[in-house]
Amino acid sequence: METKEIKCKVDVLSWDELTSEERMLVACAKDATVGSYSPYSKFAVGAALLLANGEVVKGSNQENVSYPCGLCAERTALFYANAAYPDQAVKVLAIAAQNSAGFLPSPITPCGACRQALLETENRFGVKMKVILYGTERIYRVESVASLLPLQFEM
Ligand code: THU
Repeated sequence: METKEIKCKVDVLSWDELTSEERMLVACAKDATVGSYSPYSKFAVGAALLLANGEVVKGSNQENVSYPCGLCAERTALFYANAAYPDQAVKVLAIAAQNSAGFLPSPITPCGACRQALLETENRFGVKMKVILYGTERIYRVESVASLLPLQFEM
């Protein structure tokens, strides 16, 4: 038997260690939480995407009384970006989340369904999507969505 080990490299950073572009995008993700409709979870998530043409697209989680109808912030932003700018790769994604106590100290990471959807865009354009996950005490940075989804389904 052979055992394979799959590693995911995550940079753990402070605010000061981000580039100015990363800081700008995190600020957009924080700002996007304002548009969250989350009366059920009371958990407001914001996502911001930096496109290859320099545009920033923001999204937030949108919930529904029929819970599965709701959508995460990442896919809300991603599907809008892909619909409005179908020829633009997504270079960077930033995510921030807050509850009633404010922005969370530790970053949240995208759910499995969002990772799969984000991966489709990464593969479609052949451009790595850097992921910045914001927390007030620490920030995670991952070089691509593919590294967040090991053993991904391929056809
Ligand atoms: N949510 C997101 O928007 N993004 C994530 O990465 C994780 C979870 C939303 C879904 C739901 O509206 C709320 O957060 C609680 O799960």
